[in-house]
Amino acid sequence: MGLFDRKPIAAADESGTGMRRTLGAGDLIMLAIGAVIGAGIFSSLGTAAAGETLADGTVIRYGAGPALVLSFVLLGAVCGLAALCYAELAAMIPQAGSAYAYSYATLGEIVAWIVGWALILEYAVGNVAVAIGWSGYFTSLLSGFGIDLPGWLTHGYWNVKASADPAIHGLMESAPHIAGIPVLVNLPAFGIVVAITLLLLKGVKESTRANNVMVVIKLLVLALFVIVGGMHIDPANYKPFAPNGFRGIHQGAAIVFFAYIGFDAISTAAEETKNPQRNLPIGILGGLAICTLIYVIVGFVATGLVPYEQLRSSDPLARALSIAGLSTASWIVAAGAVVSMTAVLLVFQYGQPRIFYAMARDGLLPKFAAKLHPKTRTPHVTTIITGVAVALGSLLADDAATYDLTNIGTLAAFSVVCIGVLVLRIREPDRHRPFRVPFVWLVTIGGAAACVFIMRGLPSSAWKAFAAWMVIGLTVYFVYGYKNSVLRRGNAPVAPE
Ligand code: ALA
Repeated sequence: MGLFDRKPIAAADESGTGMRRTLGAGDLIMLAIGAVIGAGIFSSLGTAAAGETLADGTVIRYGAGPALVLSFVLLGAVCGLAALCYAELAAMIPQAGSAYAYSYATLGEIVAWIVGWALILEYAVGNVAVAIGWSGYFTSLLSGFGIDLPGWLTHGYWNVKASADPAIHGLMESAPHIAGIPVLVNLPAFGIVVAITLLLLKGVKESTRANNVMVVIKLLVLALFVIVGGMHIDPANYKPFAPNGFRGIHQGAAIVFFAYIGFDAISTAAEETKNPQRNLPIGILGGLAICTLIYVIVGFVATGLVPYEQLRSSDPLARALSIAGLSTASWIVAAGAVVSMTAVLLVFQYGQPRIFYAMARDGLLPKFAAKLHPKTRTPHVTTIITGVAVALGSLLADDAATYDLTNIGTLAAFSVVCIGVLVLRIREPDRHRPFRVPFVWLVTIGGAAACVFIMRGLPSSAWKAFAAWMVIGLTVYFVYGYKNSVLRRGNAPVAPE
């Protein structure tokens, strides 16, 4: 039994009978939009356009300027390649666990473990970033109502420590101290994660209904931004169009990639989808196409509304409207951002437990994580574990560092999925594929290379954190998963070579 043993696809199908199939193609597109449009477009767009420089002048990344629209087009193409690959595998392996499950069936156990471990960055760490973004908009909405929360209750310790803004960094001294340690916690971020977790514990149908309402609201709010903002565009703001050349477009794309994450998340609902062979490709590709179009239009309006440097803020869309003197629209967009990010939190808090569930079912994580609730048939144990971990992370973390770490982990998983499609085509050319990637060599190798190219636009701190995360992951695998794997212990057949 080797590290690269694969789990047979037929066995994967048989074992996936535990959850109820309630979701159709429309639900999946709504889930995709619910997952995709959030903190990326409402928050990280500002850093992508304007870049990031520390107080001492060190450049962390160059901004794209108005050429941000080209970053969005570039990312639409890169994610399109990955989405085609996800669609082929999701239709063929309609099993909870997304890229983790596909890698197990195509590239073998150790690769699957590495991908599953990287997906924790996408889902759980990504949600820490979204919760912090949510809290930022929520706090400013509250202050619009005259309720001002103290800074030490709305900024986590690591966020304050990393901030170059003297007003925020000063909280290190001015916050209350316990045993010499400053108390710096992001209470709203913590609270929203707890609330979402409780909602998910009620079961999937209620949650998708809530998601559909939030998706409609977010589309209306972005339409408002485009229409109202579009009437106040100053063409002078488009010059210079690409102030930092291709380097800016590339590094801007590497952070705003966060805005695209999520079209893949709906594949974690494969075991709860009706007719997954047809509905999963429609959901994945349809959701991505709609979101790309929206981003290009929003990016064009945002960079035309104000000079791109002024987008440097955690609430760039609301800020751009208020600088342009459109304060009512600004307030509505801020409220919409809160709703949008709630939808994102919902989808990722939904996805992570299902990946843990799949990994535990395979014996790579402890058995108790593979339990389903007897009544709701949802993986309640992993839902609670994810809720506690993300809530605690949101309480203390820094958002910029979590965006970068999420992006690098997700891009790594995407590139493995692309390669997985090609490997399976070669190993099992005759297997029935309800959806086939066109020009398979070009799309798979091109997709993997494109993901690595976007990763190279991230700062070195992200690479170091990613390397550390992977070392921890491999240690866990060799200490636990390697010994307890269901496949390795002979309880499941191994795929023929
Ligand atoms: N794409 C999701 C967002 O932007 C993760 O919030």
